[in-house]
Amino acid sequence: MSNIKINYLGHSAVLITGSKNIIIDPFITNNPKAPLQVEEIPKIDFVLVTHDHFDHFGDAIEIAKRDKATLIAIFEISQKMEVVESKINVVGMNIGGTYRQDGIVVSMTEAHHSAKVGSPVGFVVEMDGKRIYHAGDTSYWSDIGLIPKLFGELDVAFLPIGGHFTMDIKQATLAVNDLKPKLTVPIHYNTWPVISADGNIFKESCLPFIVKVLLPGETEDLGG
Ligand code: NI
Ligand code: MN
Repeated sequence: MSNIKINYLGHSAVLITGSKNIIIDPFITNNPKAPLQVEEIPKIDFVLVTHDHFDHFGDAIEIAKRDKATLIAIFEISQKMEVVESKINVVGMNIGGTYRQDGIVVSMTEAHHSAKVGSPVGFVVEMDGKRIYHAGDTSYWSDIGLIPKLFGELDVAFLPIGGHFTMDIKQATLAVNDLKPKLTVPIHYNTWPVISADGNIFKESCLPFIVKVLLPGETEDLGG
């Protein structure tokens, strides 16, 4: 089993490297917090997109094309003209569904937000014996605690804390108490002034649950 690592690429972009390389919400170009350029991203096997807002869809097509990666998104995104015409491998699925390929298990979860096409979603990704939840853009909702009941205990949860478009620190703290992940990493904050938040206040607020504040470009090793 490979050693699995999570690398925060700023905003909502997360790179997970293990037996396969997975990137979620690859907003790199024009992301003021991106620690690298698209060209510096390692070869990707799966590109996961939570919704079609520019700060999530980002460089998804370019990376999927470059690496012949599989793009996984909600059904309506898989039918978008720019996706169909790009001739990339695309898997359109929907909330509650699970997709398996090459030892990777990807489940699509609910998210409370908006989108141009389809619905916004989150993902639970299983690889190398670890289970990682990326909430996408969402407010808190009272049934978020169903996610570990449906898909299993979470090793890591990536949760937005910036407010204005998503959960803020108060709501994300409620989410942590419901999700009970072994580790939480805050995302979707400090990219622009409108979503300013202090990761250390979130960390204090979640105790005794463990929060790891990753700066853009920082990596956390989850072990094998
Ligand atoms: Ni959004
Ligand atoms: Mn967003």
